[in-house]
Amino acid sequence: MVDASQPGALKKVDTAHVPLSHYLGAVGMPGVTAWYGLVKIINPKAGDTLVITAASGAVGSAFGALAKARGCRVVGIAGGPDKCRYVTDELGFDACIDYRAHPDVKSMSAALKEACPQGIDGYFENVGGYIFDAVLLRTNAFARVALCGMIAGYDGQPLPLANPALILVNRLKIEGFIVSEHMEVWPEALAALGQLVASGKLRPRESVAQGIEAAPEAFLGLLKGKNFGKQLVKLV
Ligand SMILES: NC(=O)c1ccc[n+]([C@@H]2O[C@H](COP(=O)([O-])OP(=O)(O)OC[C@H]3O[C@@H](n4cnc5c(N)ncnc54)[C@H](OP(=O)(O)O)[C@@H]3O)[C@@H](O)[C@H]2O)c1
Repeated sequence: MVDASQPGALKKVDTAHVPLSHYLGAVGMPGVTAWYGLVKIINPKAGDTLVITAASGAVGSAFGALAKARGCRVVGIAGGPDKCRYVTDELGFDACIDYRAHPDVKSMSAALKEACPQGIDGYFENVGGYIFDAVLLRTNAFARVALCGMIAGYDGQPLPLANPALILVNRLKIEGFIVSEHMEVWPEALAALGQLVASGKLRPRESVAQGIEAAPEAFLGLLKGKNFGKQLVKLV
């Protein structure tokens, strides 16, 4: 059921400039998720250094384009050299760290120090776990953290935080959000995202599974990074 009077709930889409499937990804809910965390929580100024996990995915790719358009230094974290290459070469991030090559806090923290020489002003969290610990170690005073997802814990794994004292010491703002509770921003966010896709500044990828029977495996693949970009299931 859709409430047609709710802003952004129903919308005629332009398929001349933006492929239809992108309305389920970069120019849909995942894109607005990136927009909300960036604009409403991190609220960066030009020159800020921002970091995002799951950088090659649906949310991550939109975040990169939106943050670059605001003049930020944007550093992604993704799994494997292919995804990292895509993040820098096609999505235009300034750097990308392969977390599989940095599987503990010490190593990840060293990689972040190199990629973020001025420290971290904003962090968009999609994953949780040791990467969050490593990022907290590199945050600047008054950094903002948009808590969007904790995919490392979606299989029931506990996600303890090693140094919560850093939230106090660095005077951090950490805010979780659910994008569907902020329908009032969708029209503005979707307009910005549509322009980025139509102008070629955001080139999102998609992984398409065929048929409803492929949906469970596609979902489980998300938890292992088998998808490259937005995971879709084509029904007909
Ligand atoms: N708060 C909200 O309203 C809201 C709305 C939409 C989405 N979300 C959240 O946003 C996040 C991204 O969603 P998306 O649709 O854009 O997904 P996605 O990034 O397209 O796919 C998920 C990616 O997460 C990475 N991943 C999975 N398990 C991991 C682990 N243990 N450690 C590190 N990385 C891991 C994988 O990439 P690698 O191969 O790079 O590991 C995988 O491709 C998810 O956490 C989702 O739940 C929240």
